[in-house]
Amino acid sequence: MALKTVLVTGSSGLIGSEAVEHFDRQGCKVHGVDNNMRRIFFGDPGDTTWNLDRLRKVTHNFTHHNLDIRDRVAMDDLFRSQRFDLIIHCAAQPSHDKAREIPILDFEVNALGTVNLLEATRLYCPEAVFILLSTNKVYGDAPNEIPLKELETRWEYARPEDYNGIAENCRIDRTLHSLFGASKAAADLMAQEYGRYFGMKVCVFRGGCLTGPSHSGVELHGFLSYLVKVAISGGSYSVFGYKCKQVRDNIHSHDVVRAIEEFAANPRFGEVYNLGGGRDNSISMLEAIAKIEKMTGKKLNWRYVEENRKGDHICYISDLAKFKSHYPQWGITIGLDEIIRQIIEDHTKRLQSA
Ligand SMILES: NC(=O)c1ccc[n+]([C@@H]2O[C@H](COP(=O)([O-])OP(=O)(O)OC[C@H]3O[C@@H](n4cnc5c(N)ncnc54)[C@H](O)[C@@H]3O)[C@@H](O)[C@H]2O)c1
Repeated sequence: MALKTVLVTGSSGLIGSEAVEHFDRQGCKVHGVDNNMRRIFFGDPGDTTWNLDRLRKVTHNFTHHNLDIRDRVAMDDLFRSQRFDLIIHCAAQPSHDKAREIPILDFEVNALGTVNLLEATRLYCPEAVFILLSTNKVYGDAPNEIPLKELETRWEYARPEDYNGIAENCRIDRTLHSLFGASKAAADLMAQEYGRYFGMKVCVFRGGCLTGPSHSGVELHGFLSYLVKVAISGGSYSVFGYKCKQVRDNIHSHDVVRAIEEFAANPRFGEVYNLGGGRDNSISMLEAIAKIEKMTGKKLNWRYVEENRKGDHICYISDLAKFKSHYPQWGITIGLDEIIRQIIEDHTKRLQSA
């Protein structure tokens, strides 16, 4: 690939660290920005220092910057000191539920931080490709309006035309988003605007459940990773509402980064794509618990809470057709069983080395 200098924000997190490793392997010069704010959001279990230490060992041309994306002067200085060809913006307050406790901080990180980076890109490297990791929560609870049928272990779309899941034409306003969904929607719209209004090569990926072994899984974010943690290390997991049959589609961080790479090689202007595991990688809470118990050989300690999380999706499967039609070389390469196997393996290793 012709790309030479890549900036990854949130570089110690799940997607950011996968992007750092991937583009470092391709011979790019990679700069990471991460101030370990996940620890501030979620306490010690959210600490990403272990992942930064790991990255420092496995990479060849990686420079870490302990900077805050909310700091506009620091971002400007960084962009002045380097000319980036690709910006992969993964830094965020990523939790739906956490945002209610910290609405201002959530908005500053998710919305303002994104505008700081878009504007620095426009000023210092307007030809660069800019990727925003957005979320399916920008649709709020609109996906819940689709008629569903109840199966033994999961909710399922009732109409055949909905079988492939939610497409990008789902509306994003007049729905209940959670504060997180709203701050991410602000970032999503601003990124689209920089693409369309200024003609910049901006891509917005609206993620389903993004997952993989590098997640510092906590109760409020990273459900597969956290379920595995509870199964192996103890603790308890709470499932909120929908009879435990809510469905999520899960995509491995490697397949996310491959999508970023495909877009960067043939960029468009201000595009939006849904990006998740799709139907084949979808699973309900009940099914996930059974699968993880079987794969770990351990009983998971969990409880059911009648009331659902506010604005939570009942059945969400990302329709991947638009991205696949623009980038036919891309597809899901890591199935659900392999994703869970890797999370279990990694968690076991981390426990042994602790
Ligand atoms: N994981 C998912 O299921 C999921 C789903 C949909 C969308 N997304 C989006 O994808 C992106 C990446 O998610 P992830 O799972 O890798 O999250 P993550 O929490 O693992 O990584 C985010 C990183 O950003 C850093 N960070 C937070 N605030 C910062 C700030 N102000 N300045 C610098 N660094 C900061 C954190 O320390 C963390 O390491 C986020 O934008 C998230 O909203 C994630």
